[in-house]
Amino acid sequence: MTEKFLIEPCGALQGTVEISGAKNAALPVLAAALLTEQTCTLQSIPDLSDVHAMCALLESFGARTHFHANTLTVDAGGAEPLDASYELVGKLRASFLVMGSLLARFGRAKVPLPGGCAIGTRPVDLHLKGLAALGASIDHSHGFVSVSAKKLQGAKIYLDFPSVGATENIMLAAVLAEGQTVLENCASEPEIVDLANFLNTIGGKIRGAGTDTIKIEGVRRLEAREIRHSVIPDRIEAGTFMLAAAISRGDVTLANVMPDHVKPVTAKLKEVNISVEENDSSVRVFCKRDSKIIAADLKTMPYPGFPTDMQAQFMSLMATAAGTSVITETVFENRFMQVGELKRMGADIKIESRSAIIEGVNRLTGTQVAASDLRAGAALVLAALGAKGATEVSGVQHIDRGYEGFDVRLNKLGARIRRV
Ligand code: EPZ
Repeated sequence: MTEKFLIEPCGALQGTVEISGAKNAALPVLAAALLTEQTCTLQSIPDLSDVHAMCALLESFGARTHFHANTLTVDAGGAEPLDASYELVGKLRASFLVMGSLLARFGRAKVPLPGGCAIGTRPVDLHLKGLAALGASIDHSHGFVSVSAKKLQGAKIYLDFPSVGATENIMLAAVLAEGQTVLENCASEPEIVDLANFLNTIGGKIRGAGTDTIKIEGVRRLEAREIRHSVIPDRIEAGTFMLAAAISRGDVTLANVMPDHVKPVTAKLKEVNISVEENDSSVRVFCKRDSKIIAADLKTMPYPGFPTDMQAQFMSLMATAAGTSVITETVFENRFMQVGELKRMGADIKIESRSAIIEGVNRLTGTQVAASDLRAGAALVLAALGAKGATEVSGVQHIDRGYEGFDVRLNKLGARIRRV
């Protein structure tokens, strides 16, 4: 029985919320733990269904994992390159990242092609092009991808698109390759930097993460005294709570945030007349007395541009802003799943190819809506906070993939959400 959120309109959200560790840093770090025979202690790991799905996948290779109070230990000493099962990989696209680790450590891997999902077909051609450049032979058949290589050779690789997953998969494979790998036009997200830091902790030699060129010196063996790593705070969860404060015209402080990582969201909020105060490890989002939220255009871009994972949430804010805004989604080909649901709440939105044109309305009206993916689901919850009348959001399992206790933490700030 899938759960629903029953959301009553609430006043201005007030108070402080602690941001969790980043899902999209934890998942590649978990895939990287397969590279080493030593036990890894990972901290600030969020308690999310995606994290537990990745642990189940690691255990299907013979690794052992233990999760308690946001600390996860992984012992992949006894892991073997068994075939990754479809039902495990099908649930979680990030599972495809184990390919790079298994190939590097064992010389082979067989992983099901990750299915598409609500936000697009999500091919893995850039992943495979990179692995082939390192000398892997690749075989596609019956929905599985098998890769093998006697010994991977470092190579110079230019990514057609700064794909986050492709950058991560190639980094994982190159750590134990012979010689140097130079990855150009790669992704520069903070989660890439976090993965590079973890790989260096386990004995890899990676430089340049966070720029568009990463250099990996292959090592023969991974050696490390003790492997302990704490993942970075989740910049997308932080952005989502910043938007919740803005939509409810509230005054909310987010603790455990790296202000630099949420700069694109901060800049956009200031542009629409919301105040943001940045401190060392927290940000405060608030609205000046009777200030009006004005419309602004938005274009999602790879980091450090405005993140595609925050596009739906920003659209919820623009739905009741004063004026017309144009939101263009350049990263995914089909990431406007929230539009239909927002329109059922009374939003005035027209889609023209990769852009959505939003005419701000005075107020949305609560009704029954369905979450299609985790960020669209979060956007619907945000829209419900300020709507007239109650809203029922179904498909809450999508939201639980990316947000630890989303309803509980919003309620602590003054929201009125019941999980049924
Ligand atoms: C990561 O997905 C994130 N997931 C996504 O977050 C995020 O939306 C995305 O990066 C972009 O920032 C994780 O980190 C686990 P991509 P990923 O490869 O790696 C195309 C969330 O909400 N592409 O950068 O799959 C692809 O189709 C999730 O937490 C190819 O064409 O993203 C897409 O249009 C959703 N060929 C674009 O690149 C490839 O081989 C960006 O994809 C790979 C990607």
